[in-house]
Amino acid sequence: MKKILFIAMIGISLYANDKASTNLSDELRALLSQEMQFIKSGMDDMLYAIVSNDYKTLGETAKKIQHSYILKQEIKPEQKQEINQKLSTKFMEFDHEFHETAQDLASFAEFEDRENVMKSYSSMINQCVRCHESFATHRFTNFESE
Ligand code: HEC
Repeated sequence: MKKILFIAMIGISLYANDKASTNLSDELRALLSQEMQFIKSGMDDMLYAIVSNDYKTLGETAKKIQHSYILKQEIKPEQKQEINQKLSTKFMEFDHEFHETAQDLASFAEFEDRENVMKSYSSMINQCVRCHESFATHRFTNFESE
């Protein structure tokens, strides 16, 4: 009996990790949504900056994305705790790496290093996909048919 309960608990916690963001309080989930909308429009702005050779806008936008990290916003200590409890380590790792790539892109923009700007931009797209297919299939249901 104990064993069955244990297995059931593992099942629940795996499921909980997969749908991490749906477990968040409405307030935090709204913040996450806001961050996502912000980085989506940031990606658009950066694309336009790249194709118009505008390194100034590119660098500024990359920096804004870098700092959009949900944990760096002015959230209450209880909310920080909630994030740490409810979002898996993998999620945090993906989020961290994503913001680091934005930071790299900002530096490459400063040096007007087009080749590495392109590489970072493309890595960021891969990082959106990687996180969505692991943690946001409830929002992007097309991933489920793969
Ligand atoms: C670390 C994980 C992670 C990364 C990286 C990430 N996302 Fe998301 N994204 C999510 C999660 C989780 C949701 C679903 C939130 C929810 O529960 O509604 C989401 C939802 C969204 C939404 C829908 C927001 C809404 O209002 O419903 C957009 C748009 C979005 N992401 C864009 C992006 C783009 C563009 C990138 C890359 C440039 C990106 N995301 C990178 C985790 C991530």
